[in-house]
Amino acid sequence: MIKLLFIGDLIGRPGRRAVAALLPGLRREHEFDLVIANAENAAGGFGLTSKIADELFSLGIDVLTSGNHIWDQKEIEPYLRQNNRLLRPANYPVGDLGRGSVVVELDHRPGIRVGVVNLAGRAFLGPADCPFRAGRDLVARLSAETPVLVIDFHAEATSEKNALATYLDGQISLLVGTHTHVQTADERILPRGTAYITDVGMVGGRNSVIGMKADRVVEKFLNGKPQRYEVEKSEPWLGAVIVEIDEKNGRARSIQRLQIPA
Ligand SMILES: [Fe+2]
Ligand SMILES: [Fe+2]
Repeated sequence: MIKLLFIGDLIGRPGRRAVAALLPGLRREHEFDLVIANAENAAGGFGLTSKIADELFSLGIDVLTSGNHIWDQKEIEPYLRQNNRLLRPANYPVGDLGRGSVVVELDHRPGIRVGVVNLAGRAFLGPADCPFRAGRDLVARLSAETPVLVIDFHAEATSEKNALATYLDGQISLLVGTHTHVQTADERILPRGTAYITDVGMVGGRNSVIGMKADRVVEKFLNGKPQRYEVEKSEPWLGAVIVEIDEKNGRARSIQRLQIPA
């Protein structure tokens, strides 16, 4: 059995601090084999820097995924090229600028490998190649290396996430939706053995608008004038799922949703 923790979009410093505070206790309780987190908002809510990526890896996160905000900090580009454990969506048409998937071997269990794939949706989001075809092709390629495959599908539309999970059910171990920052209560194991949640939520201030100070966002909706968004610092909570997977056939055994105060 493989036990993994997938943490939703970490928002700025409060998100990083919440993970630093909560991860050691969660780890003692659950003895995770692998920890994955989405880091597209880790730098002040917008993108990720190399220093912050190093900080997150030093907390014991094994793989970082991302999404549409990955390009917000230009500085991350060389790091994306060099570090294969930081992913950007595989279906972004950006050539060799970073990678969209990685196969990692578990630290304490040599020979056991987990493939992690990052994909982005196209409904209500920027340009990307078809996540269904890209996902299908990557899954076919990676399944030659390991039956244990995890996808972070960074997408806005519930239907697109539902559809991709259904399309790949039985071929992957877990599909986690990210990007909306609002956790959904539909975690389950699909008929052919893929664990699924439409959105895992975020690590950020709960009394906010998706992690940002609410008044600025309300102002923007009221008058349409651009606002300087700021990360909400108070009362962060951590959205994540704990998933157990049979490493022999890649089928999920359980998925447990977490939304806990820091
Ligand atoms: Fe995000
Ligand atoms: Fe996003």
